[in-house]
Amino acid sequence: MNISKILSLGPVMPVIVIEQPDHAIPLGEALLAGGIKTIEITLRTTTALSAIEYLAKSLPEIYVGAGTILTKQNAAQAKNSGAKFCVSPGTTSSIIDACNEYNIPLLPGASTVSEMLTLSEVGFSEIKFFPASAAGGTQFIRSLASPLPNLKFCPTGGISYETASEWLSLVNVSCVGGSWIAPAKDINDQNFAEITTRAKQATKLVN
Ligand code: 3PG
Repeated sequence: MNISKILSLGPVMPVIVIEQPDHAIPLGEALLAGGIKTIEITLRTTTALSAIEYLAKSLPEIYVGAGTILTKQNAAQAKNSGAKFCVSPGTTSSIIDACNEYNIPLLPGASTVSEMLTLSEVGFSEIKFFPASAAGGTQFIRSLASPLPNLKFCPTGGISYETASEWLSLVNVSCVGGSWIAPAKDINDQNFAEITTRAKQATKLVN
């Protein structure tokens, strides 16, 4: 599945920080029960890679990506753990080359027009806008629709259920990313019912 297809799987892609490997499957089930079809598991914990591996093997219905890809090694780890795609907060040529080499789709991060143009030049048309609220908010992305009509964005960073609709109303936003659906505290406390409730609300948002 290419990135454009992945971003069309729903209006919201939960961004996950997971600390216990045995939380991976109940978390995936809770999100699936709420209608979520794709998630980004950030490589910010020692557990992230095993969580991706468990989900890829045991819950293939949910499309799992690896986030916080910062290096070539991260891309290799993501591929080996069974991640279906990579997400980076910013983008370097070594991240792009590694994802090409390992044949794994990349949702590359950018926060400036020049970075976006550089990504466009090498063939990307879907970009993670990060950190979305701090780097200019909806006004920034709205301003790009006319000069950069071929680019679509997945804004992430500082987005909540309350602000997601405004982002999703923009013509150049495919979906939004955010940790509010399954924050680390709820995962650690195994508040999976609450996560399903938030997932259900999120999947009803319109993009
Ligand atoms: C990310 O990893 O993309 C962000 O940290 C998620 O941002 P949020 O926690 O503000 O939703």
